[in-house]
Amino acid sequence: MTGTTDPTGGDYDFVVVSNRLPVDRVLAPDGSASWQQSPGGLVTALEPVMRSRDGAWVGWSGQPDLDFEPFDSAGIRVVPMRLSASEVEDYYEGFSNDTLWPLYHDVIAPPNYQRDWWDAYVAVNQRFADATARISAQDAVVWVQDYQLQLVPKMLRRQRPDLTIGFFNHIPFPPYGIYSQLPWRTQIIEGLLGADVIGFQRLADASNFSRAVRRLKGFVTKNPIIEVPLVDESEGVRAHGPVRKGQEFRTVVAKQFPISIDAAAYEQLARTPAVQARARQIREDLGNPKTIMLGVDRLDYTKGIGHRLKAFGELLADGTLSVEDVTLVQVASPSRERVQTYMHLRDEIELTVGRINGDFATISHTAISYHHHGYPREEMVALYLAADVMLVTALRDGMNLVAKEYVATRFDEDGVLILSEFAGAADELKRAMLINPHDIDGLKESIVQAIEMPKRDRAARMRTLRRRVLENDVEKWSAEFLRVLTNSRSGRGRKGSAA
Ligand code: F6P
Repeated sequence: MTGTTDPTGGDYDFVVVSNRLPVDRVLAPDGSASWQQSPGGLVTALEPVMRSRDGAWVGWSGQPDLDFEPFDSAGIRVVPMRLSASEVEDYYEGFSNDTLWPLYHDVIAPPNYQRDWWDAYVAVNQRFADATARISAQDAVVWVQDYQLQLVPKMLRRQRPDLTIGFFNHIPFPPYGIYSQLPWRTQIIEGLLGADVIGFQRLADASNFSRAVRRLKGFVTKNPIIEVPLVDESEGVRAHGPVRKGQEFRTVVAKQFPISIDAAAYEQLARTPAVQARARQIREDLGNPKTIMLGVDRLDYTKGIGHRLKAFGELLADGTLSVEDVTLVQVASPSRERVQTYMHLRDEIELTVGRINGDFATISHTAISYHHHGYPREEMVALYLAADVMLVTALRDGMNLVAKEYVATRFDEDGVLILSEFAGAADELKRAMLINPHDIDGLKESIVQAIEMPKRDRAARMRTLRRRVLENDVEKWSAEFLRVLTNSRSGRGRKGSAA
């Protein structure tokens, strides 16, 4: 640690900022509470970097109105941020998940534009930026995560121009025709341009962002570089139009860094005898059908769960499939349950599941085994091993890590991945069976082909997919992002001379 304090900065050389902390506050039955590391891949990927570089993580505990002192967890300084109950409603459930989330996912559900939600978003972003500015050491590297915190880069730069600031958007960035609906479209672009490097999942997301920058700010973008004129060091993003001759500018890199998973850890878990035994048990408990199909999603309207159920229901109705031969296991983990759109979705999905089971299940064979829970990683891996066909039918998805988890788990080189072309993962996993989830007939055909696919073809496809997922794991993702971020500091200059 540097040991410095305000005003030039705090102690931490590497700071990650995200809406949620990498640890969850867990309540035991006796009422006692403790922090447990959440299972996400981001923590796993960043843990070694954080330990070696005096790392701190700024984020919300996940519960309203609770204050916690910063503490150390597995070599990481954890800095919990307080959100009031009304901020949870307006900033998190409102602006983040009922405005930005539907807007950025191609308006699958209609976004709500509410001015008080925007005010809360600005206030919370400012508080995250202030806390980060306080704890970051001189010249520290700060990495801001995701759509809940898009204003933080600019707010941080204004206070701490010495910092190197990265931002990664885990969800899609929409085409300009959709993005331009947002009443605060320019403020968000300016917020993001406070970063030195802005990472996206897909090339298309980075291109959509660059186009929005050109349209709204008039800056010159030379893929992946954006030239931001410096009015003054801290507020350059307020300017408009291309950099003029003789004017100073800084460069911002906007490019794709497709995120991944800790693939080796998934494979290792799949190889353990206990998990394999559990996979066999699952098959048996389901009555040993010839084919088990699996869907694993947060219960979110972007995931295309209804489309998948429709296709399966029709295949049962027209007699192409029977419940004696095929069972669909659907894990739908609870998510954002106080947001109206999510409540309606749950009703709709559960009604459909009930109807299909009512129409087609027999006493001995269920059609859909539906689970509204999250499960520990061991159980998920056992389900992946048990599943002959994995259904990822997202209508729009930043990446879809479930697709990668399925592939990483299948060390036996078996199993067929049906993957929506609207998931970021489709850019990389081209040997999956790529489908358009809106085309129900096409989806039905792909399901039948997947079920009937000869073993040799399954193995050939899975081998190619596995090479890709095992080579490009989450550690490589974070290392590549941080490499580009570290090099980005030299990106400034004066028009007419070298940048
Ligand atoms: O990547 C999208 C994302 O919103 C993440 O930021 C988050 O960790 C995950 O989905 C789950 O969402 P939430 O934090 O709203 O439960």
